[in-house]
Amino acid sequence: MQRRFRDKVTIALESHVAHLQTSIASVAHQERPEYLDRLSMLRNQVFVLDHMYVSLFSTLGWILRLAVTMALLASIHPALILLVVFAIPTVLTSTWRPAVERSAQERGAQTNRLARHLFTIATTAPPGKEVRVTGIGERLVTERRAAWERWYGPVAAARWGSAWWYALAWAIFGFAYVGAVVFVSSGLRAPASAVLLVLAAGARLSAYIGATVGEIGFLRGFWMDGSRRLAWLEDYAAAVAASGDLPVPGMLQRGIRFDHVSFAYPGTRVVLDDVSLTLPAGAVVAIVGENGAGKTTLVKLLAKMYEPSSGAIFVDDTPLARVPAGEWRARLAGAFQDFFRFEFRAGHTVGLGDVPRMDDQPAVAAAIDRAGAGDVVARLTLGLDTQLGPTWPGGVELSFGQWQKLALARGFMRDRPLLLVLYEPTAALDAETEHALFERYAAAARGGKSDSGRITILVSHRFSTVRMADLIVVLDGSRLVEVGTHEELMVKSGQYSELYGIQAAAYR
Ligand SMILES: Nc1ncnc2c1ncn2[C@@H]1O[C@H](COP(=O)(O)OP(=O)(O)OP(=O)(O)O)[C@@H](O)[C@H]1O
Ligand SMILES: [Mg+2]
Repeated sequence: MQRRFRDKVTIALESHVAHLQTSIASVAHQERPEYLDRLSMLRNQVFVLDHMYVSLFSTLGWILRLAVTMALLASIHPALILLVVFAIPTVLTSTWRPAVERSAQERGAQTNRLARHLFTIATTAPPGKEVRVTGIGERLVTERRAAWERWYGPVAAARWGSAWWYALAWAIFGFAYVGAVVFVSSGLRAPASAVLLVLAAGARLSAYIGATVGEIGFLRGFWMDGSRRLAWLEDYAAAVAASGDLPVPGMLQRGIRFDHVSFAYPGTRVVLDDVSLTLPAGAVVAIVGENGAGKTTLVKLLAKMYEPSSGAIFVDDTPLARVPAGEWRARLAGAFQDFFRFEFRAGHTVGLGDVPRMDDQPAVAAAIDRAGAGDVVARLTLGLDTQLGPTWPGGVELSFGQWQKLALARGFMRDRPLLLVLYEPTAALDAETEHALFERYAAAARGGKSDSGRITILVSHRFSTVRMADLIVVLDGSRLVEVGTHEELMVKSGQYSELYGIQAAAYR
């Protein structure tokens, strides 16, 4: 019963924590160290919960044994109950000890995370090739060891520091115990059986008190600390989620407008600086700019992963800040630069781009067709039923470009998005295929103008593709420097025409 109960509660609590984390609208808590450390402690504590229910039951057992022992002692002489008083210092020190230890652990949470990170790098497949080529294997091992020791040093010191007090408290009890035995044998001149009882019960008493106190200390630590952390996560989730009182427009009439939008990640310089811009409804908008110019950041703001530091984004006339993140994202589609390899059956890997239609074969097939990923699926032995990912039974590995095509197909699952993001979706494709694909998307986008006014955002470093866009937005060092059509920007002879010239010359 106990184990059943324990497993069920652990699963329920883990699900609750996972639910809280995924329900948080922003991704900040997954990118910022101060949140990550708290979360990793909380994850460990969810694991500790396993122990908690055993602890709850055994505490009751210990208390019962303690009471019986005390009753036995009192039956010889009521003064023997005083032994319990001498045990109070042990109670106090052992409730205090875990708290000291935990705070040392928390201070070192970051080094602990580093040690685990280095372990992952040294032992998992994705970094495996680079670890071998660079030959950093040995280094990873020593650095991991060093990080671990940096974490363990203060924790061990805290343990030792509190251990002295702990030992002192137990020494006091030990003297009292010896005193009790002397008192019963010489003072009371009690029969040998009574002395034996005190010897046995007294020794048991210390063990019972130790165990009771230890378990209570553990429970207390969990309630005070684990529940505080859980409460923090709940508050944080609620605070971030508590936004959005306006509905998402059914279709775009005018477009999406950036009104003096600036943004900085917590603790960084300004990454987008006073950007004012209109993305017209129905248009294909290309964003170009050097690495680090802020393209991904702009897309993250559009996807409501973050809110602007100042300024506002409007969807037609609705401020994006006041639209619920979930509803808005239901109208987004597309593929991100750092797409994820979902290792499911191929049909689901694509289908989860639109969860309600995940098992809708024609819809999945249409998305695969739109992304030009038909050749990938055709080569799978079981087609859409093929398990992806070599670590699963019967799972197959795909090439990078094949994964990317499936990610793109996933991005095309939604039929009527208001915003379609194509972020270097075809970096792994040859230029000709990319060109052909974009021509198809652009035609589809313009054709779709009449129904939802969908805006297609295209980020690419290939100007042959970019030039097909209706509007080209040039970012440079966090600022918006040029906006216009290919022809307009070429006439301007600014940054765009210069970059275009370089690429064109290289091909000539
Ligand atoms: N999560 C983050 N936390 C802090 N700073 C970030 C974060 N992501 C990006 N930055 C910083 O913001 C700036 C803009 O990054 P962004 O990813 O938007 O550039 P980008 O234009 O998409 O570049 P690329 O062409 O390489 O994809 C960079 O200087 C980067 O250092
Ligand atoms: Mg980027």
